[in-house]
Amino acid sequence: MAKRFPEGFLWGGATAANQIEGGFHEGNKGMNIADVLPGGKERLSLISNPGFDFEIDPEKFYPNHEAIDFYHRYKEDIALFAEMGFKVFRMSIAWTRIFPNGDELEPNEEGLAFYDRVFDELHKHGIEPVVTISHYEMPVHLVKEYGGWRSREVVAFFERYVKAIFNRYQGKVKYWMTFNEINSGLMMPIMGLGFSIQKEEDKYQPTFQAFHHQFVASAKAVKLCHEMMPEAEIGCMIIFAPVYAYDSNPENAMHALQEEELFNYFCADVQVRGEYPAFINRYFKEHGIELEMEDGDLEIIKEGTVDYIGFSYYMSRTEKKDKSDLDGIQGNIMQGVKNPFLKASDWGWEIDPIGLRISLNKLYGRYEVPLFIVENGLGAYDQVEEDGSINDDYRIEYLREHIEQMGEAIEDGVDLMGYTSWGCIDLVSASSGEYSKRYGFIYVDKHDDGSGTLERKRKKSFYWYKDVIVSDGENL
Ligand code: BG6
Repeated sequence: MAKRFPEGFLWGGATAANQIEGGFHEGNKGMNIADVLPGGKERLSLISNPGFDFEIDPEKFYPNHEAIDFYHRYKEDIALFAEMGFKVFRMSIAWTRIFPNGDELEPNEEGLAFYDRVFDELHKHGIEPVVTISHYEMPVHLVKEYGGWRSREVVAFFERYVKAIFNRYQGKVKYWMTFNEINSGLMMPIMGLGFSIQKEEDKYQPTFQAFHHQFVASAKAVKLCHEMMPEAEIGCMIIFAPVYAYDSNPENAMHALQEEELFNYFCADVQVRGEYPAFINRYFKEHGIELEMEDGDLEIIKEGTVDYIGFSYYMSRTEKKDKSDLDGIQGNIMQGVKNPFLKASDWGWEIDPIGLRISLNKLYGRYEVPLFIVENGLGAYDQVEEDGSINDDYRIEYLREHIEQMGEAIEDGVDLMGYTSWGCIDLVSASSGEYSKRYGFIYVDKHDDGSGTLERKRKKSFYWYKDVIVSDGENL
């Protein structure tokens, strides 16, 4: 039988600077959004609701400050990724290591030198970095002084940051992405757009104005990348959660379609096709949104279309127009109702491997550009046995079922570049700030109260994934 996964398929794992590095004050780094988000279950409510003040509360614990100390342990961690046979490693550059406040004129040499060391170490092991330029890591100074992406001025600061990293790392980084999960700004403006909606404020105008600024900033980065590094590829990065209608009632089908257009396609339409999609005009009108644009913005967006679509896939979403008679999905950051056909993780994230095949087909059918699954995985509680082993069969089962569906999608004709499972090493959860929500093949001895030795251990899934990579997806 012919191999399903193409030659050169990019197998690997994914992380973000704020969730692994720690060293939050080292090397002149400035504070970013994740540094002011406390750990624990209250975090989701803080990031989902209006009125967050971006201040540190001395009574609270801030897990991203130490994270898993990749800042000091990157050599050990990269050696473990190499042992699994990673072809690529997805990571982000912390904007505040390069421009601590975001509005300086010159980059911070210590920050630049840190990523030189990381990229060199990866290359030493034959691993290609896949770099997200901005992964929920806006400098707090830009949030407080300028209002995050509400402000047009931030476009120029971002451009300066992008120039600095492209200058420094051209030749070292071949795969780039601009904004992590750009469409997350619709649900969590704090993380995605770098500001909190004020309690009395209407959310629509600032949210879409901020998106416009990000689209211009992203397109400028894409153009610059193409000019400076013709051999590199640069993508957008979205959350994709296919939306199912609850039943065959056309009202629900229409509602599901509208939710899908807005959440799954709006940002990708702009970044891949280089134009605002037709459907958004009515939405703008109905919500009183009037974008302020500068001359030339639409041309910049048109010229800065991406080479591929990076996306995260964790779950699907089921929609019903009138939800009053049903329970919502508990603990799920997506809106929607419970899907009676799906089981969910301990955090209420519904597990739907076929949804991944559906997502791949939908995205490829609409855009026909290469796709890259840059996040997927199961957040779960792991147990260390007395003999030190961690038997995470549930994680293996989850990943196996998703990778099987990727194979199906490739046979359906989808051009899939690669797969980097999320949190290949245990890290701090973005939405809950917990350590105990573990995704890794590598266990890190660190706990929700901040205790732990930070020792790394190989889980059962470590050996399983190694075999998946060496067999190019045949041994699942
Ligand atoms: C994505 C983010 O939303 O999902 C990651 O890009 C995040 O930063 C991942 O960690 C998993 O979410 P969580 O909340 O379980 O960490």
